[in-house]
Amino acid sequence: MPLRSARSGKVSRDPVHHPLFARCYARISVRAETRMGMAGVRERLLAGLSGRVIEIGAGNGLNFAHYPGAVSEVVAIEPERVLRQLAVESALRSEVPVDVVPGAAEALPVKSEAFDAAVVSLVLCSVRDVPRALGEIRRVLRPGGEVRFFEHGRGGGRAMTLTQRALDRTLWPPLSGGCHVARDPVGALRDAGFELGPYRQVLMPEKGPRLPTSYCVLGTAWRPAPEEP
Ligand SMILES: C[S@@+](CC[C@H](N)C(=O)[O-])C[C@H]1O[C@@H](n2cnc3c(N)ncnc32)[C@H](O)[C@@H]1O
Repeated sequence: MPLRSARSGKVSRDPVHHPLFARCYARISVRAETRMGMAGVRERLLAGLSGRVIEIGAGNGLNFAHYPGAVSEVVAIEPERVLRQLAVESALRSEVPVDVVPGAAEALPVKSEAFDAAVVSLVLCSVRDVPRALGEIRRVLRPGGEVRFFEHGRGGGRAMTLTQRALDRTLWPPLSGGCHVARDPVGALRDAGFELGPYRQVLMPEKGPRLPTSYCVLGTAWRPAPEEP
């Protein structure tokens, strides 16, 4: 759907258009690598991957430096123009080949069953249609292919979950590039037909005050392989 900028009146054909958020995220995310330990989380997220990988909503490409050498190719989908340009620059520095491609999770511009693994990090909170995005990820993974995920979602006690729901209905999505804090990424993966592998809860930041975005899950899910006859 074309989007008209309130400031310039120009029409953007990008499916995701959050230039202000994109610039803020580009700065904050780089700081979070060391200050919040995100570099270590990315390392754990991607450890052991091999073959062809599709990364959905790659942002400014901070995962690229953490792909193991056994990964033969990464196709990195990023709909937001500012972040995509930064991802292209990150891809040029990457040790594994990374192709940065415009597109949205809900309609991935790639062939079916073409990938050994898919990576989503801090993305399911922001996609417009989670079941459709996960259906697309299922389509492009080979049977038995894996999803690596690091996502934040619903968590904490009753006061926190009420706060998260209130934020999702009001300020949070417009201020943070369409992000939601009360989603349930693990439940969504299960509902989309993935088999859940090992996953664990992670608090971000690990120490200090709990924020509505603190309740994260890091793990693996699989596209079920067909049963042997
Ligand atoms: C919080 S950023 C995370 C970026 C990156 N994955 C990381 O780990 O730093 C959310 C990303 O999701 C992207 N995004 C939002 N809606 C999307 C959609 N429908 N399809 C694919 N990516 C989307 C945004 O453009 C942004 O790059």
